[in-house]
Amino acid sequence: MSNSGEAELLHTFKGIPFTTRSSPELLKSLDTFDAREDDVLLVSYPKSGTHWLAGVITKLYATQVTVTSPIEFGDISRLEELNKLSSKRIIPTHLDYNMLPPNFKNKKCKMIYISRNPKDTAVSMFHYYRDNPNLPTVDTWAAFFDLFLKGNVVCGSWFDHFLSWAEHKDEKNILFLFYEDMKKDLPKVVKEITLFLSLNISDNDIQDICKKSSFSEMKNATEKENSDPTHTVCALTSNKKLIFRKGTVGDWKNYFTPKQNIMFQETFNEKMKLSKM
Ligand code: A3P
Repeated sequence: MSNSGEAELLHTFKGIPFTTRSSPELLKSLDTFDAREDDVLLVSYPKSGTHWLAGVITKLYATQVTVTSPIEFGDISRLEELNKLSSKRIIPTHLDYNMLPPNFKNKKCKMIYISRNPKDTAVSMFHYYRDNPNLPTVDTWAAFFDLFLKGNVVCGSWFDHFLSWAEHKDEKNILFLFYEDMKKDLPKVVKEITLFLSLNISDNDIQDICKKSSFSEMKNATEKENSDPTHTVCALTSNKKLIFRKGTVGDWKNYFTPKQNIMFQETFNEKMKLSKM
Protein backbone atom coordinates (compact mmCIF):
# COMPACT_ATOMS: atom_id res chain seq x y z
CA MET A 1 0.00 0.00 0.00
CA SER A 2 1.43 3.41 -0.80
CA ASN A 3 2.19 5.66 2.16
CA SER A 4 1.48 9.03 0.59
CA GLY A 5 -0.83 10.60 3.11
CA GLU A 6 -3.29 7.74 2.81
CA ALA A 7 -3.31 6.72 6.43
CA GLU A 8 -6.17 9.14 7.00
CA LEU A 9 -8.44 7.29 4.54
CA LEU A 10 -8.94 4.48 7.04
CA HIS A 11 -9.44 4.27 10.78
CA THR A 12 -10.00 1.29 13.01
CA PHE A 13 -13.04 0.75 15.20
CA LYS A 14 -13.29 -2.36 17.42
CA GLY A 15 -10.39 -3.82 15.46
CA ILE A 16 -12.05 -3.39 12.05
CA PRO A 17 -10.80 -0.94 9.41
CA PHE A 18 -13.43 1.58 8.22
CA THR A 19 -13.07 4.41 5.77
CA THR A 20 -13.34 7.92 7.12
CA ARG A 21 -16.75 8.01 5.42
CA SER A 22 -17.90 6.20 8.58
CA SER A 23 -17.24 8.60 11.43
CA PRO A 24 -16.04 7.16 14.76
CA GLU A 25 -18.88 9.06 16.51
CA LEU A 26 -21.47 7.37 14.29
CA LEU A 27 -19.93 3.94 14.84
CA LYS A 28 -19.93 4.53 18.61
CA SER A 29 -23.61 5.53 18.52
CA LEU A 30 -24.87 2.62 16.43
CA ASP A 31 -25.84 0.68 19.55
CA THR A 32 -28.48 3.30 20.30
CA PHE A 33 -30.12 2.97 16.87
CA ASP A 34 -33.86 2.56 16.97
CA ALA A 35 -34.89 -0.20 14.56
CA ARG A 36 -38.44 -0.68 13.30
CA GLU A 37 -40.02 -4.10 13.10
CA ASP A 38 -40.56 -3.79 9.34
CA ASP A 39 -36.98 -2.71 8.53
CA VAL A 40 -35.21 -5.04 6.12
CA LEU A 41 -31.43 -5.26 6.35
CA LEU A 42 -29.27 -6.06 3.32
CA VAL A 43 -26.05 -7.40 4.71
CA SER A 44 -22.83 -8.12 2.87
CA TYR A 45 -19.09 -8.06 2.92
CA PRO A 46 -18.15 -5.49 0.25
CA LYS A 47 -18.14 -6.69 -3.36
CA SER A 48 -20.49 -9.61 -2.83
CA GLY A 49 -23.35 -8.36 -5.01
CA THR A 50 -25.02 -5.88 -2.67
CA HIS A 51 -26.14 -3.52 -5.44
CA TRP A 52 -27.50 -6.40 -7.45
CA LEU A 53 -29.57 -7.61 -4.53
CA ALA A 54 -30.73 -4.07 -3.72
CA GLY A 55 -31.73 -3.60 -7.37
CA VAL A 56 -33.85 -6.75 -7.24
CA ILE A 57 -35.46 -6.01 -3.89
CA THR A 58 -36.59 -2.50 -4.73
CA LYS A 59 -38.42 -3.90 -7.76
CA LEU A 60 -40.39 -6.32 -5.59
CA TYR A 61 -42.36 -3.75 -3.64
CA ALA A 62 -45.52 -2.15 -4.95
CA THR A 63 -45.59 0.26 -2.01
CA GLN A 64 -43.02 2.97 -1.40
CA VAL A 65 -39.78 1.75 0.12
CA THR A 66 -36.52 3.60 0.62
CA VAL A 67 -33.18 1.94 0.17
CA THR A 68 -31.11 4.05 2.53
CA SER A 69 -27.38 4.46 2.32
CA PRO A 70 -25.56 2.02 4.63
CA ILE A 71 -26.24 2.47 8.31
CA GLU A 72 -22.54 2.88 9.08
CA PHE A 73 -22.04 5.58 6.47
CA GLY A 74 -21.72 9.26 7.36
CA ASP A 75 -21.53 11.25 10.57
CA ILE A 76 -23.59 11.24 13.71
CA SER A 77 -26.50 13.09 12.03
CA ARG A 78 -27.22 9.90 10.03
CA LEU A 79 -29.18 8.24 12.79
CA GLU A 80 -31.52 11.22 13.05
CA GLU A 81 -32.01 11.25 9.27
CA LEU A 82 -32.91 7.56 9.27
CA ASN A 83 -35.31 8.14 12.15
CA LYS A 84 -37.15 10.75 10.16
CA LEU A 85 -37.80 8.52 7.13
CA SER A 86 -41.49 7.83 6.98
CA SER A 87 -41.44 5.03 4.38
CA LYS A 88 -40.43 1.42 4.89
CA ARG A 89 -36.66 1.20 5.15
CA ILE A 90 -34.36 -1.21 3.34
CA ILE A 91 -31.07 -0.66 5.12
CA PRO A 92 -27.79 -1.92 3.66
CA THR A 93 -24.82 -2.62 5.88
CA HIS A 94 -21.36 -4.16 5.75
CA LEU A 95 -21.27 -4.52 9.53
CA ASP A 96 -20.11 -7.67 11.21
CA TYR A 97 -22.96 -9.39 13.13
CA ASN A 98 -21.43 -8.39 16.45
CA MET A 99 -21.45 -4.71 15.54
CA LEU A 100 -25.05 -4.64 14.37
CA PRO A 101 -27.26 -2.33 16.46
CA PRO A 102 -28.88 -4.69 19.02
CA ASN A 103 -32.33 -3.29 18.32
CA PHE A 104 -32.39 -5.04 14.90
CA LYS A 105 -31.76 -8.34 16.68
CA ASN A 106 -34.25 -7.73 19.50
CA LYS A 107 -37.00 -6.76 17.09
CA LYS A 108 -36.22 -9.75 14.85
CA CYS A 109 -36.01 -7.57 11.76
CA LYS A 110 -35.63 -9.46 8.51
CA MET A 111 -32.04 -9.61 7.33
CA ILE A 112 -30.70 -10.90 4.02
CA TYR A 113 -27.02 -11.80 3.93
CA ILE A 114 -25.46 -12.10 0.49
CA SER A 115 -22.19 -13.94 0.17
CA ARG A 116 -19.86 -14.69 -2.73
CA ASN A 117 -16.87 -16.91 -3.38
CA PRO A 118 -14.22 -15.00 -1.40
CA LYS A 119 -11.70 -15.44 -4.21
CA ASP A 120 -13.94 -13.52 -6.61
CA THR A 121 -14.75 -11.06 -3.82
CA ALA A 122 -11.01 -10.45 -3.35
CA VAL A 123 -10.47 -9.78 -7.06
CA SER A 124 -13.49 -7.49 -7.21
CA MET A 125 -12.24 -5.61 -4.15
CA PHE A 126 -8.76 -5.30 -5.65
CA HIS A 127 -10.25 -3.40 -8.59
CA TYR A 128 -12.37 -1.34 -6.24
CA TYR A 129 -9.28 -0.35 -4.27
CA ARG A 130 -7.58 0.69 -7.48
CA ASP A 131 -10.46 2.75 -8.85
CA ASN A 132 -11.92 4.26 -5.71
CA PRO A 133 -10.35 7.45 -4.32
CA ASN A 134 -11.89 6.73 -0.89
CA LEU A 135 -9.67 3.68 -0.48
CA PRO A 136 -5.90 3.44 -0.10
CA THR A 137 -3.85 2.75 -3.22
CA VAL A 138 -2.65 -0.76 -3.88
CA ASP A 139 0.09 -1.19 -6.39
CA THR A 140 -0.18 -4.85 -7.31
CA TRP A 141 -2.50 -7.81 -7.05
CA ALA A 142 0.15 -9.64 -4.99
CA ALA A 143 0.17 -6.81 -2.42
CA PHE A 144 -3.61 -6.75 -2.24
CA PHE A 145 -3.83 -10.53 -1.94
CA ASP A 146 -1.69 -10.40 1.23
CA LEU A 147 -3.79 -7.63 2.73
CA PHE A 148 -7.03 -9.49 1.96
CA LEU A 149 -5.85 -12.77 3.39
CA LYS A 150 -4.75 -11.07 6.61
CA GLY A 151 -8.00 -9.12 6.85
CA ASN A 152 -6.12 -5.83 6.60
CA VAL A 153 -8.68 -4.34 4.25
CA VAL A 154 -11.71 -2.18 4.76
CA CYS A 155 -14.43 -4.10 6.69
CA GLY A 156 -11.78 -6.50 7.98
CA SER A 157 -11.44 -10.20 7.34
CA TRP A 158 -13.87 -11.82 4.90
CA PHE A 159 -13.68 -14.97 7.02
CA ASP A 160 -14.56 -13.22 10.29
CA HIS A 161 -17.41 -11.34 8.63
CA PHE A 162 -18.88 -14.46 7.06
CA LEU A 163 -18.46 -16.54 10.22
CA SER A 164 -20.06 -13.89 12.43
CA TRP A 165 -23.21 -14.12 10.28
CA ALA A 166 -23.09 -17.83 9.45
CA GLU A 167 -23.43 -18.58 13.15
CA HIS A 168 -26.98 -17.17 12.90
CA LYS A 169 -27.96 -18.84 9.65
CA ASP A 170 -30.74 -20.90 11.23
CA GLU A 171 -32.55 -17.92 12.71
CA LYS A 172 -35.90 -17.48 11.01
CA ASN A 173 -35.41 -13.76 10.36
CA ILE A 174 -32.12 -14.28 8.48
CA LEU A 175 -31.90 -15.42 4.86
CA PHE A 176 -28.56 -16.46 3.41
CA LEU A 177 -28.03 -15.98 -0.32
CA PHE A 178 -25.11 -16.68 -2.62
CA TYR A 179 -24.04 -14.58 -5.60
CA GLU A 180 -23.28 -17.75 -7.55
CA ASP A 181 -26.86 -19.01 -7.05
CA MET A 182 -28.17 -15.69 -8.36
CA LYS A 183 -26.00 -16.09 -11.45
CA LYS A 184 -27.15 -19.67 -11.96
CA ASP A 185 -30.89 -19.22 -11.48
CA LEU A 186 -31.98 -15.70 -10.58
CA PRO A 187 -35.76 -16.38 -10.75
CA LYS A 188 -35.35 -19.18 -8.20
CA VAL A 189 -33.49 -16.92 -5.78
CA VAL A 190 -35.96 -14.08 -6.33
CA LYS A 191 -38.81 -16.47 -5.53
CA GLU A 192 -37.01 -17.39 -2.32
CA ILE A 193 -36.68 -13.71 -1.44
CA THR A 194 -40.38 -13.05 -2.06
CA LEU A 195 -41.35 -15.93 0.23
CA PHE A 196 -38.98 -14.68 2.92
CA LEU A 197 -40.34 -11.14 2.68
CA SER A 198 -43.94 -12.41 2.41
CA LEU A 199 -44.48 -10.66 -0.91
CA ASN A 200 -46.97 -11.99 -3.38
CA ILE A 201 -45.43 -11.69 -6.86
CA SER A 202 -46.44 -13.65 -9.93
CA ASP A 203 -43.94 -15.80 -11.81
CA ASN A 204 -44.33 -13.50 -14.82
CA ASP A 205 -43.43 -10.47 -12.75
CA ILE A 206 -40.45 -12.33 -11.32
CA GLN A 207 -39.22 -13.07 -14.85
CA ASP A 208 -39.61 -9.42 -15.74
CA ILE A 209 -37.76 -8.26 -12.62
CA CYS A 210 -34.92 -10.68 -13.40
CA LYS A 211 -34.60 -9.31 -16.93
CA LYS A 212 -34.35 -5.77 -15.57
CA SER A 213 -31.76 -6.89 -13.03
CA SER A 214 -29.26 -8.39 -15.46
CA PHE A 215 -25.73 -7.05 -15.28
CA SER A 216 -26.02 -5.19 -18.59
CA GLU A 217 -29.43 -3.67 -17.77
CA MET A 218 -28.24 -2.47 -14.37
CA LYS A 219 -24.95 -1.15 -15.73
CA ASN A 220 -26.70 0.75 -18.53
CA ALA A 221 -29.33 2.16 -16.18
CA THR A 222 -26.60 3.42 -13.84
CA GLU A 223 -24.70 5.06 -16.67
CA LYS A 224 -27.81 6.96 -17.74
CA GLU A 225 -28.95 7.84 -14.24
CA ASN A 226 -28.20 11.22 -12.76
CA SER A 227 -27.34 9.65 -9.45
CA ASP A 228 -27.36 11.38 -6.14
CA PRO A 229 -23.67 11.38 -5.18
CA THR A 230 -24.38 10.52 -1.58
CA HIS A 231 -26.52 7.53 -2.39
CA THR A 232 -25.08 4.11 -3.03
CA VAL A 233 -25.64 0.98 -1.01
CA CYS A 234 -21.90 0.73 -0.42
CA ALA A 235 -20.33 2.73 2.38
CA LEU A 236 -17.11 2.94 0.39
CA THR A 237 -18.04 4.97 -2.66
CA SER A 238 -20.42 7.55 -4.00
CA ASN A 239 -19.71 6.54 -7.58
CA LYS A 240 -22.14 3.84 -8.58
CA LYS A 241 -20.40 3.43 -11.94
CA LEU A 242 -17.49 1.76 -10.13
CA ILE A 243 -19.77 -1.06 -9.06
CA PHE A 244 -20.56 -2.71 -12.39
CA ARG A 245 -17.18 -4.06 -13.47
CA LYS A 246 -17.50 -7.58 -14.90
CA GLY A 247 -20.24 -9.40 -13.01
CA THR A 248 -18.96 -12.94 -13.56
CA VAL A 249 -18.18 -16.06 -11.56
CA GLY A 250 -14.60 -17.35 -11.51
CA ASP A 251 -12.66 -14.22 -12.45
CA TRP A 252 -10.24 -15.17 -9.64
CA LYS A 253 -8.69 -17.73 -12.00
CA ASN A 254 -7.30 -14.82 -14.03
CA TYR A 255 -5.48 -13.43 -10.97
CA PHE A 256 -4.57 -16.12 -8.43
CA THR A 257 -1.21 -17.83 -8.95
CA PRO A 258 -1.15 -21.56 -8.07
CA LYS A 259 0.77 -20.65 -4.89
CA GLN A 260 -1.77 -17.99 -3.90
CA ASN A 261 -4.55 -20.49 -4.50
CA ILE A 262 -2.95 -22.99 -2.11
CA MET A 263 -2.36 -20.29 0.52
CA PHE A 264 -5.95 -19.13 0.22
CA GLN A 265 -7.32 -22.65 0.43
CA GLU A 266 -5.27 -23.37 3.56
CA THR A 267 -6.54 -20.24 5.28
CA PHE A 268 -10.09 -21.00 4.12
CA ASN A 269 -9.97 -24.57 5.48
CA GLU A 270 -8.48 -23.46 8.77
CA LYS A 271 -10.90 -20.56 9.33
CA MET A 272 -14.03 -22.33 8.11
CA LYS A 273 -13.60 -25.64 9.87
CA LEU A 274 -15.91 -24.58 12.66
CA SER A 275 -18.58 -23.26 10.31
CA LYS A 276 -21.71 -25.33 9.71
CA MET A 277 -21.99 -23.96 6.17
P1 A3P B 1 -17.12 -7.62 -10.14
O1 A3P B 1 -16.19 -6.57 -9.61
O2 A3P B 1 -16.55 -9.00 -10.01
O3 A3P B 1 -17.60 -7.33 -11.51
P2 A3P B 1 -21.21 -4.88 -4.46
O4 A3P B 1 -22.49 -4.37 -5.01
O5 A3P B 1 -21.39 -5.67 -3.19
O6 A3P B 1 -20.20 -3.80 -4.35
O7 A3P B 1 -20.64 -5.97 -5.50
C1 A3P B 1 -20.13 -5.57 -6.74
C2 A3P B 1 -19.95 -6.81 -7.60
O8 A3P B 1 -21.25 -7.28 -8.01
C3 A3P B 1 -19.18 -6.47 -8.86
O9 A3P B 1 -18.43 -7.63 -9.19
C4 A3P B 1 -20.32 -6.22 -9.85
O10 A3P B 1 -19.96 -6.31 -11.20
C5 A3P B 1 -21.29 -7.32 -9.44
N1 A3P B 1 -22.66 -7.04 -9.91
C6 A3P B 1 -23.37 -5.90 -9.77
N2 A3P B 1 -24.56 -6.01 -10.38
C7 A3P B 1 -24.61 -7.24 -10.93
C8 A3P B 1 -25.58 -7.94 -11.72
N3 A3P B 1 -26.73 -7.37 -12.07
N4 A3P B 1 -25.26 -9.20 -12.12
C9 A3P B 1 -24.10 -9.77 -11.79
N5 A3P B 1 -23.14 -9.16 -11.06
C10 A3P B 1 -23.39 -7.91 -10.63
